[in-house]
Formats: sequence, C-alpha cells, structure tokens
Amino acid sequence: MKNSINKVSVVFPSKSVNEGFARSCAAAFLTPLDPTVDELSDVKTAVSEAVTNCIVHAYKDTVGDVCMTMYSGEKNEVEIIIKDKGCGIEDVTQAREPMWTTGGADRSGMGFTIMESFMDSLSVKSVKGRGTTVKMKKRISVRGKAK
Ligand SMILES: Nc1ncnc2c1ncn2[C@@H]1O[C@H](COP(=O)(O)OP(=O)(O)OP(=O)(O)O)[C@@H](O)[C@H]1O
Ligand SMILES: [Mg+2]
Repeated sequence: MKNSINKVSVVFPSKSVNEGFARSCAAAFLTPLDPTVDELSDVKTAVSEAVTNCIVHAYKDTVGDVCMTMYSGEKNEVEIIIKDKGCGIEDVTQAREPMWTTGGADRSGMGFTIMESFMDSLSVKSVKGRGTTVKMKKRISVRGKAK
C-alpha cells in the first residue's frame, strides 16, 4: 500500500493453532482504527478463511510458512496480504466460484466467497507449484470521538 500509516508483518507455520493467532493479530492491528463490532468480525472471519486455506490446501500434508502483512492507510482502510509458498491454484477463476472445492466432503467451497463478501475487495494471485497471494481491502468507518 502506498502512503501507509502503519504496517505489520508476521510469519508463522501453517498449523491450525495459528488460525486463532492470525485472527487476534488482525484484531490488534485494527484496534487503533476503531472498527465497529461488525467490521472487526468481518475482517477476522476473512483472515480465518485465508489462513485456513494455507493450512488445509497450500500445505496439505506438510507445514510451511504463512506470511501475513497488514497495512493501514490515510482513509482508515486496511489491506491484508496473506501469502504462502505452497501448492498453488491451477485455475483461480474456478477456485473463486461459490461451492467449488478440492477439499471433498470436509469443505464447502465458500472461503473465497466469504472473503469477497466480508471485505471491500479481494485479489487472488497464484502460480501452480509456487504459491498463492491473497490481498483483501476494507474501509473502516470513521466515527466521531466522544468528548
Ligand atoms: N492458499 C491456497 N493454496 C492452494 N489452493 C487453494 C488455496 N486457497 C484456496 N485454494 C483452492 O481453492 C478452492 C476454493 O477455496 P475456498 O476457500 O473458497 O473453499 P474451500 O477451502 O474448499 O472450502 P471452505 O473454505 O468453505 O472450507 C480450494 O478447495 C482449493 O482447491
Ligand atoms: Mg477455504
């Protein structure tokens, strides 16, 4: 993000315990932006979906690094980038379709749809065999300060 006001990066292994860690990190990063309960919950849910995908798809049967970088900007917006160096996605357009999954009966294929609907924008870039980068943005409402 250009002209960011704040930036935090964390790298963690793709273990399920770190899904909660990533949610809490995002919540802590958002605190100075004074999000509403709904905005906070939307961002945490989107982060959960993206990190879960790294754990269950990108590094299926193995463990690898997940890098989460968060920026905040001048208009009280956040940009969150979640990057893995896992298996990659063959066809991103298809993967983003609601209910499309390679996860079998365990998964519903709704992760990208949830990220898209809870955030203002979603971009997914992936190279098969190299990894995937998910970028999401959301504007956090600016509320009047109590006197
Ligand atoms: N980081 C990733 N690395 C590799 N493949 C991915 C990654 N994220 C998503 N995918 C692929 O995209 C498909 C769709 O992802 P999406 O999150 O929408 O659904 P899902 O994970 O299958 O199910 P749900 O999220 O509802 O549990 C996945 O089934 C998987 O094939
Ligand atoms: Mg998913």
